[in-house]
Amino acid sequence: MKDASPNTIEVCFTQTSFSYIKTQQPFVVVVVDILRATSAMCSAFANGLKTIIPVATLEEARSLKEQGYLVAAEREGSILSFADYGNSPLEYQKADIKGKTLVYCTTNGTQAVKLAEKASGLVLGAYVNLDVLTDWLTQNQQNVVILCSGWKNQFSLEDAVFAGALTENLSSKGKFTYNSDSAEASLDLWKIARQDLLFYHEKASHRHRLKRIGQDASIPFCFCLNACKVVPGLREGVLVDFLSEE
Ligand code: MLT
Repeated sequence: MKDASPNTIEVCFTQTSFSYIKTQQPFVVVVVDILRATSAMCSAFANGLKTIIPVATLEEARSLKEQGYLVAAEREGSILSFADYGNSPLEYQKADIKGKTLVYCTTNGTQAVKLAEKASGLVLGAYVNLDVLTDWLTQNQQNVVILCSGWKNQFSLEDAVFAGALTENLSSKGKFTYNSDSAEASLDLWKIARQDLLFYHEKASHRHRLKRIGQDASIPFCFCLNACKVVPGLREGVLVDFLSEE
């Protein structure tokens, strides 16, 4: 029986900092890539996708494509020529993916999943699943490490702000505590941005990157609170929706 002391929350603003975490095992990692990988993967599960096979390299994605798998792959935000799907959450709202398996490879989001896959637990976090994720983590009763995917090991504003939203949600129930500057900083960012998430993130560098390649239509959905009642999590190396298993 777990003792009554609250679980801890630690925030990693970049993938590099994950190797310096101080959180004691067992802990569950929440991988965050608001623009757009975790938002898109939640959208896919909410539209009936059964399994995601996250891969780190394009070589793996291509070879699985040659073996007949459906593949979603992007680099710099743009879909790749050999892929069936890109990384826009809107694509999965109209795609015929019910009950299917999808190989998924992105610039940062799936790298973070592969980086943390050895943790005792791993789930995906985004604004679209914020409340069901909070409930799942609270019931799970383990320490939490929020891993921001960032952009090529650089800090990304949107992931850090979300880390603040999740830290506030979890600690408001008294079952979690935090004592790191990264958690404090993310909470302050959330307090500034929460009034109007879309307006606040006009300054986010990846938003401008997506605009330049004509992918900005998928951005508003990524800031829609609780649009997807799913908690994608890693089970034997693949992502499934833990809520549809219950
Ligand atoms: C990523 O994983 O780097 C991003 O989600 C890229 C994108 O916006 O497609």
